[in-house]
Amino acid sequence: MKENIEPRKIVIAIDGYASCGKSTMAKELARNIGYIYIDSGAMYRAVTLYCLRHNLFEGERLLVDELQRRMDEIEVSFALNPATGRPETILNGENVEQDIRGMAVSQRVSIVAAIGFVRRKLVALQQALGREKGIVMDGRDIGTAVFPDAELKIFLTASPEVRARRRVDEMTAKGQDASYEEVLHNVKERDHIDETRAVDPLRRADDALLLDNSAMTIAEQNEWLMKQYRRVAGIRE
Ligand code: CDP
Repeated sequence: MKENIEPRKIVIAIDGYASCGKSTMAKELARNIGYIYIDSGAMYRAVTLYCLRHNLFEGERLLVDELQRRMDEIEVSFALNPATGRPETILNGENVEQDIRGMAVSQRVSIVAAIGFVRRKLVALQQALGREKGIVMDGRDIGTAVFPDAELKIFLTASPEVRARRRVDEMTAKGQDASYEEVLHNVKERDHIDETRAVDPLRRADDALLLDNSAMTIAEQNEWLMKQYRRVAGIRE
């Protein structure tokens, strides 16, 4: 039998519900196999932060026309943090990695992410980042809209209660205030908006592998993902 010497360079798309551990899984895999990791949600979060800072929200209502006029002023990119080796989000030249993770952004991001012109701009950027392959990207529509031809697609899920608990623990560990009830409500609300929006809704691609990680440890899910990668990249155990 013919054996591959060089592993095949591929695109890995990881989609799933809010706070189900996509980024933990994606980052770890990228680090282990020397791929670039891109958090597409961070890009929607950065645009949302821009809207908040420029008063484009009146309560929950977004001034969509005003945002459309300003789209060319919004530049989102990533820069590698040399200390952690991980990419951090840059909005118009400023590192906003911390600011995009708070509840103010979480409560509004799904509204911004449902807008067609926002998605068109960010999806084009994401596709450009993946042109050379060797990339792990997580989000909601990576296997369906951004990289429909990705060689490995994962759809991750877990119960809303497990997801909310994990997010609260993560925020508490970072010293952020977090109420379980508030986070659970936010997780459910974002799932609903993400699944029912007209443009590129959250759904499992027909050829995505489904993983429910409600009862899995991080080590177990990393091991499972590494196995899938080896299989698709043609690396023998
Ligand atoms: O908090 P969590 O890590 O689950 O979410 P995220 O990956 O940071 O994404 C934040 C929000 O951005 C999601 O709830 C979606 O509304 C939106 N999003 C999207 O619409 N498409 C993507 N590819 C990624 C995120």
